[in-house]
Amino acid sequence: MDKLEIIGGVSLDGEISISGSKNAALPILAASLLSDCSLILKNVPELADIALMIELLNQHGCLTIWDKQLKQLRLQMRSLESLVAPYEIVRKMRASVLVLGPLLARYHEARVSLPGGCAIGTRPVDIHIKGLERLGAQIHIEEGYIHAKAPGGLKGAEIQLPFPSVGATENILMAATLAQGKTVIKNAAREPEVVDLANCLIAMGAQISGHGQNNIYVEGIEAFREAEHRILPDRIETGTYMMAAGITGGHLFLKNTDINLVSAESIVLEEMGIVLTPRENSIQVKGPKRLKPTNVVTAVFPGYATDLQAQIMALMCVADGISTVKETIFENRLMHVPELCRMGAQIDVLGADATVRGIEKLKAAEVMATDLRASVSLVLAALAAEGKTILNRVYHLDRGYENLEGKLQACGAKIRRIKGGEDGERRVFTEAAG
Ligand code: UD1
Repeated sequence: MDKLEIIGGVSLDGEISISGSKNAALPILAASLLSDCSLILKNVPELADIALMIELLNQHGCLTIWDKQLKQLRLQMRSLESLVAPYEIVRKMRASVLVLGPLLARYHEARVSLPGGCAIGTRPVDIHIKGLERLGAQIHIEEGYIHAKAPGGLKGAEIQLPFPSVGATENILMAATLAQGKTVIKNAAREPEVVDLANCLIAMGAQISGHGQNNIYVEGIEAFREAEHRILPDRIETGTYMMAAGITGGHLFLKNTDINLVSAESIVLEEMGIVLTPRENSIQVKGPKRLKPTNVVTAVFPGYATDLQAQIMALMCVADGISTVKETIFENRLMHVPELCRMGAQIDVLGADATVRGIEKLKAAEVMATDLRASVSLVLAALAAEGKTILNRVYHLDRGYENLEGKLQACGAKIRRIKGGEDGERRVFTEAAG
């Protein structure tokens, strides 16, 4: 298994181009199952999760051509080969469950493995299932699979979500585009990734309004048309590199992004003393000599993103004073705490609340990534720590951060990947980003 070696203490300086959003791309890829016309996607990030979603779509019968150089992906679902999303794929990536709505809407049947729990919580899919049932689907769970049928097709309905789940909103929205008549999704998720999905569906011919607000309105259509869509910039990657500048007292110019995607997080970073200057499609970020403490409560959009909670905690570890974090979205998302403590951080956890006592400097250690965002928080901590940190289980990072080492190396970071070979470890330096 690959590891990362990071020697801390360098103030980052340079330019980073932000990639397309993983969490917008995944549901949009699944949406290709709705149509027999081609869908061309631009700004597609080269990530393990995207490759896995393509593998899943391919086995359903979707043809794909991925030009990684151009960051362009062409998808076309002409003829169905399988209605089953198998456990081998779904267990590796929860977002696979997003094929349920499109398959059911177009083919009136689907069998999708239950994703099961994961490192950050139990993460059920009950809201997805209840929403699709409201659209007329008959669903039962058997042998670990969701069996869904809609003989005669789905029918539009009013659906009140008990919680504005991102994935459930996306699944139901995709299904509703081909349901007969009108659907209203009340208490829908308002995340930018949901809006991007809606915009792509509209480009494909769907009739949708209200996306980005509490209620989404959908008028079912019979078929889609060819379309082209550009994936929105990754707001989590944007926030992460803003924090990389912040924790190293560095100066970064983040290209191909938009500060409006990280409004709640920007307020917190400015409170910590980080100077943010929005430019056209870019953000200039300047970290202070010492960070100030702050308090963060995660919330659904437009609140502070849970996917940026682990990262801000790394900054709090070296702030001048006491900071607090309250995680309200996932029940078990403080797994990075013990790892940060191995680097000298002083953090007390009580339930979903963490109190962080800032210290002068973190110290390098051998640490282990537990999930995607936890891993990158350890990278941030390591960039600021004294000495050489070894981060194990780097595959988590490869799921969601395109060319992380390359982007950081290009700004002066001392970071390299140690390839995990079968017979001992081969040490391979990765290329700096061009
Ligand atoms: C998406 C993001 C993830 C992010 C999360 C919250 C993708 C691929 N992933 O995940 O990175 O952290 O939004 O912004 O876009 N819940 C239920 N029942 C359900 C669905 C969800 O109880 O049927 C609960 C979850 O367990 C969790 C909360 O609702 O506690 C939020 O989950 P949700 O918004 O659905 O997140 P995901 O779509 O899984």
